[in-house]
Amino acid sequence: MATARIVVSPEEPIATINPNIQGHFAEHLGGCIYDGIWVGEDSPIPNDGGIRTDVVQALRRLSPPVLRWPGGCFADDYHWRDGIGPREGRPRRVNLWWGEALESNAFGTHEFIRFCRLIGAQPYICGNVGSGSPAELRNWVEYCNFPGDSTLAMERGANGSPEPFGVKYWGVGNENWGCGGSFCPEDYGAEYKRFATYLPGFGDTELYLIACGPSGNNPDWTRRFFDKLGQGRRRRIHGFAAHYYCRTAGTATEYTVDQWYELLHRALLMEPLVIQQRAVLDGYDPDRQIGLIVDEWGTWHPPAPGRHPRHLWQQNTLRDALVAAMTLDIFQRHADKVVMANIAQTINVLQAMVLTDGPRMITTPTYHVYDMYQTHQGGQGVRARFEADEIAFPLAGEEARLPGLSGSASIKDGVMTLTVVNAHATAAIEADVFVRQAEWRGGSVVTLTDDDIHAHNTFETPEAVTPAEARSEANGAQFRHTFPPASVTAFRLRLA
Ligand code: AHR
Repeated sequence: MATARIVVSPEEPIATINPNIQGHFAEHLGGCIYDGIWVGEDSPIPNDGGIRTDVVQALRRLSPPVLRWPGGCFADDYHWRDGIGPREGRPRRVNLWWGEALESNAFGTHEFIRFCRLIGAQPYICGNVGSGSPAELRNWVEYCNFPGDSTLAMERGANGSPEPFGVKYWGVGNENWGCGGSFCPEDYGAEYKRFATYLPGFGDTELYLIACGPSGNNPDWTRRFFDKLGQGRRRRIHGFAAHYYCRTAGTATEYTVDQWYELLHRALLMEPLVIQQRAVLDGYDPDRQIGLIVDEWGTWHPPAPGRHPRHLWQQNTLRDALVAAMTLDIFQRHADKVVMANIAQTINVLQAMVLTDGPRMITTPTYHVYDMYQTHQGGQGVRARFEADEIAFPLAGEEARLPGLSGSASIKDGVMTLTVVNAHATAAIEADVFVRQAEWRGGSVVTLTDDDIHAHNTFETPEAVTPAEARSEANGAQFRHTFPPASVTAFRLRLA
């Protein structure tokens, strides 16, 4: 068995891990909103005013910090007034991007805010730049946030919510280099300034405005956007959001060992993205006032047989769980740079937390990773070094390499959370774990793994992949642990 070393250094703090790094994203796409969240008050599926209760209960358990909505591509073709007022009077529209599905608008702003409150997440609304106007977006903000007696605020009250929603996070468009208007960075920069001018905030809620960043690690978009934006008092931007998806190797459930490595290798490309985008941003924002965000990320597999190809439904295996864990570890290792990240998407779409089938619901291996990583939220990120043999595998005719072990560490309320991924498909790795200048007194260890690297949960076997928990009797400043192949492990150690 390969041996390795993990050294955690509490004396090397990184930054507080922003809980929003474990954020989520739900779009009007396939079965995410309709069936996934909204079933309607008359549904036989148990619901709270139309919102399914099983999904609420499952998501609540993850302490989701923030939820982005209504898209995605859908956002730049969405007109918020379609989704307010009596439901029976709301217009039916064609969902342009996602299979021309008929959009009933039954789930609109009030339903979204209620869902966020039920699961305990802060709302993050993505506005329409591509086919909308600054007036439409500023009116949406006023409708949501203004506490006084303006016509829009009173309309909100008449629609059942006299108290302002207090929505802080607002996206100024989505993928504006593509479905959000096909802008070049300069034109988007000009549009961004125009929209942001009319978003000063209404009432007590200070707005956090998020600009559309590049697709993947494209420094050219970032530089040209910021060149256009310029400096000065009128520059209003708080977050800058890149998107990065791990396109599949094989299919969601069928892949070779090399394809297992290939997808994990793609997941690790998030790290250079974070480092390089932050470096470019630093040139325009040396005081780091602007947060780096990745508001869409995750695995993207080919359409599942028998499913509508534009509904992006996919299964979720142990491989997806490792992608989630490795990516969260990257964000946490860069807690000084990344302030928010939103995995795509919450229910029934891409790398989902839960899958539904009529009245049935299952949680995915990715869900379990989010559960295991919860205690990192708001912790003090600290440096951890992982010394293990690299894994070599063939990629496009050359030899590529992956770290055998990777992970991240944080400390909160006297408890250290250490998360570790063993990416090796077949080999266990035994490691000596040291904590410098600190000792611990027991704790717990949770592991997510399976003998089969393709393992996943189905409606018939909903608990095929679930974490196993054990007590850790480890005391002192050092212990030895065997990490099974293809595993995610989370330690929670009480510091002495
Ligand atoms: O998450 C699915 C789609 O991927 C989103 O609508 C879009 O923003 C991205 O291209």
